[in-house]
Amino acid sequence: MEKTSKLSGFYKLSVEERRKKLAEMLELSEEDFRAALTIESADRMIENVIALVQLPLGIATNFTINGRDYLIPMAIEEPSVVAAASNIARMTKGFHATADEPIMIGQIQITDVKDPFAAKVRVIEKKKEIIERANQCDPILVGLGGGAKDVEARVIDTPSGPMLIVHLLVNVKDAMGANAVNTMCETVAPFVAELAQGKYLLRIISNLAMHRLARAWAVFDKDMLGGEEVVDGIIKAFEFANADPFRCATHNKGIMNGIDALVIATGNDFRAIEAGAHTYASLGGYHSLTQYSKNEDGDLVGSIELPIACGTIGGATSSNPVAKLSLKILSVKSSQELACVMASLGLAQNLAALRALASEGIQRGHMELHARNIAIMAGAVGKEIDIVAEKMANEKKVRVDRAKEILEEMRK
Ligand code: MEV
Repeated sequence: MEKTSKLSGFYKLSVEERRKKLAEMLELSEEDFRAALTIESADRMIENVIALVQLPLGIATNFTINGRDYLIPMAIEEPSVVAAASNIARMTKGFHATADEPIMIGQIQITDVKDPFAAKVRVIEKKKEIIERANQCDPILVGLGGGAKDVEARVIDTPSGPMLIVHLLVNVKDAMGANAVNTMCETVAPFVAELAQGKYLLRIISNLAMHRLARAWAVFDKDMLGGEEVVDGIIKAFEFANADPFRCATHNKGIMNGIDALVIATGNDFRAIEAGAHTYASLGGYHSLTQYSKNEDGDLVGSIELPIACGTIGGATSSNPVAKLSLKILSVKSSQELACVMASLGLAQNLAALRALASEGIQRGHMELHARNIAIMAGAVGKEIDIVAEKMANEKKVRVDRAKEILEEMRK
């Protein structure tokens, strides 16, 4: 079966039917879908384990990125997010995305430097030796073409006096990279401090992955969006976010609804990516991570840029079976390709929110799924669920007590 992301009616299928469809298309086995983290492996991952937290894993459909179709796994508890991204992805002929080389920054803090600017020069002079020493930590990464590539240094002023901040730039290939970078920083810090004639203190990765940006853009059909008025509304909604941090926090949160869901599905570090995204958004004044304008045909042109430090190997991407399943479904070949999918998904998610907010509001979409959950909580089963949910949504009374009343009436 040919792989396509255009799975019309996917949402109408049962869980079993959806699995069957994916299995046929992606050559997955039943075994693959039984993937689950066991309490035993969880107990090896962190400390003091007592239980597991589970999240629904859904599939966003309709995504074509750089001419390739992707089915995107999303782990999220919030209703409407998966449906909204899939719906917006229908409205473009495709996303165009790029991701920088996976270069991470490791920071080494040097304090008590008497002549910080001369110290900076002494460190830069020995760049080659620092890189060689760092690369001795990870011959495998170096063999793959990665490893430490450059050294930068800055002097900063602090209440404790000037400090020399040295950045080790490391190509981490398909890993998120924290372990490799932290090990290298700890290894070279004594040498760097000796060169600077100061004391080393912190040696740690920076989550502001400025050299690891991912970008995507796409043209969205004005008619599918709901017409010119909706397009204009979306642009004004974007301008509101760019001019007002109270709105921008929520606007960027909507972007991260999509990105985090894929980050979590693939076992990546969502705290790191969140930290990088919002710090990047704050450079030059907190602003939107997306941009929108109208082209000469009146269609909407959207774009996104943010740092995305994600991996396809290492950490939970390899040790969590559900992350492995997600990566199989995506079948991305590199961390850069995964970052391209994340950026495209973030753009789609943001546009879905802006479109709803600038037209009918988001509550209707939210309420439909919420109503189904409430119907289930009230005891509805099978076909009853949709009937009870629809009645509550129409009445705008989405409550368990009302769901119970409707159920009782129906069952009489
Ligand atoms: C809700 O999780 C996300 C939104 O609030 C995003 C936004 O307001 O742009 C809908």
